[in-house]
Amino acid sequence: MMITLFGNRKKLIRGIGEKKSGHPPGLLLLPVVFALVGCATDGPRSFLDPAGPAAEQIASLWWKMFWVYGLVFVVTMALLILALSARRREGSPLGNRFVFTAGVAIPALILIVMLVITLQVMGNLRPTGEDLRVKVTSHHWWFEVEYPGHGVLDANEIHVPVGSQVRFDLHSAGIVHSFWVPKLGGKRDMLPDYYNELYLQADKPGVYHGTCTEYCAGVHALMGFRLVAHEPQDFAGWLEDAAEPPPDPAEPGLQRGREVFMSSGCAGCHTIKGVSGGTIGPDLTLIGARHTLGAGTMENSRGNLAGWIANSQAIKPGNKMPRSYIEANDLHALVDYLWSLK
Ligand code: CUA
Repeated sequence: MMITLFGNRKKLIRGIGEKKSGHPPGLLLLPVVFALVGCATDGPRSFLDPAGPAAEQIASLWWKMFWVYGLVFVVTMALLILALSARRREGSPLGNRFVFTAGVAIPALILIVMLVITLQVMGNLRPTGEDLRVKVTSHHWWFEVEYPGHGVLDANEIHVPVGSQVRFDLHSAGIVHSFWVPKLGGKRDMLPDYYNELYLQADKPGVYHGTCTEYCAGVHALMGFRLVAHEPQDFAGWLEDAAEPPPDPAEPGLQRGREVFMSSGCAGCHTIKGVSGGTIGPDLTLIGARHTLGAGTMENSRGNLAGWIANSQAIKPGNKMPRSYIEANDLHALVDYLWSLK
């Protein structure tokens, strides 16, 4: 793309001075490219498709900036072309008063107006209350999710009620990461020595994509999560169920799966409420209900889960889970057992 746009740069600059140019000026296509990129508003991580009040404020500010600064860009480029075409003449073709007005007064006015609009948006982003608190801790490379006072621990998936202001206490257990749910609001760094706060509200039930936006080495690109917004009564039911330890498996196949979990080393790193207490990897008490595996790396299905257990290093290199050598029947039983935890 860049080669296409800038490949004819020499000809472009010569062409501007010479009036007769057979090539369209590639630089002038840039605003069109940006406009087309900006039109892609329906992706799962598009902040231009807001689903909450904070994201609506941010999207509205973005569009104002896009149109104002886009116009400034077009006018500036037009003046540049005019200046280049008049370079052999003496002095400015438009006069010094014009240079002062267009070069100093108007830009200053635009910047002041945009500053005021931005400060207004920042004011509107302040929370007016707190309906729920969720603590999120980032690890290398996944998110631990805790609901203080409710006895619920989860990983890489956050459940919230629709229409509630949720306060996120964000923290890192290691290096700096960053927390962002584009459709719901702005991003916030997750720091090792400090708890950052972020307030988000989802206005519609749904599953929203979240991601780490601070480069944290290795598989930073595979560090994501899902935020599930429920109707308030559904969320209350979910929170109550999630606080209970999973029932003892009744079927022999699931019992075998739990035995494999305990004897194959899984229990040393992972917690399942009432079963094991490992803390190196994500809590698996609700693994069967999650939308993704490996912190947003892939869809949670039986096949993917089996592949992940067998060799997650091939899927997400550098994560802390070693390759396992579990016999096929045991692996099936283990997957069935984990899949039953929801
Ligand atoms: Cu964590 Cu990037």
